[in-house]
Amino acid sequence: MILPYTGSKGEFDKLIQQAKSMTQNSYAPYSKFSVGAAVLLSDGTVITGANQENAAYGECVCAERVALLYAMANHPDAKPVAIAIAAKTNGSFTSECIKPCGSCRQVMLEAEHRYGSDIKIIMYGDKEIYIAESVKDLMPLSFGCGILSDK
Ligand code: THU
Repeated sequence: MILPYTGSKGEFDKLIQQAKSMTQNSYAPYSKFSVGAAVLLSDGTVITGANQENAAYGECVCAERVALLYAMANHPDAKPVAIAIAAKTNGSFTSECIKPCGSCRQVMLEAEHRYGSDIKIIMYGDKEIYIAESVKDLMPLSFGCGILSDK
């Protein structure tokens, strides 16, 4: 399910703040679109990331993958529980919430499979914040490892 994030319990408010703050560490000289991400792990650790661009555009890496892949490489025993993302352009956070790109969705889906547990995605915008309960909500009819061992 994808719902507006009300923040009523304030559960992920801090994670959102960390994602917003990480936009400062973005390296985005080409797109000038600065994205920050913060991944909460099951042991309470928070791993942050920001998009890192390259003159060879295809090598640009999104904030979500910078954070999530670092988390899984360095804290392989802790489950990713939630990821918050925020984006700034022209000096302000986007009004519309930032949604993860298809490549990041695929990587996040694999993390859900690897740890056997849903990851919540909190998508920040100045005028709206949405929370998806699972990557599967953002990725219907997805390609995953199941089919590799189908036969
Ligand atoms: N980007 C992210 O970091 N995360 C997203 O969810 C969407 C896009 C980055 C990639 C690139 O550096 C810039 O934003 C513009 O696409």
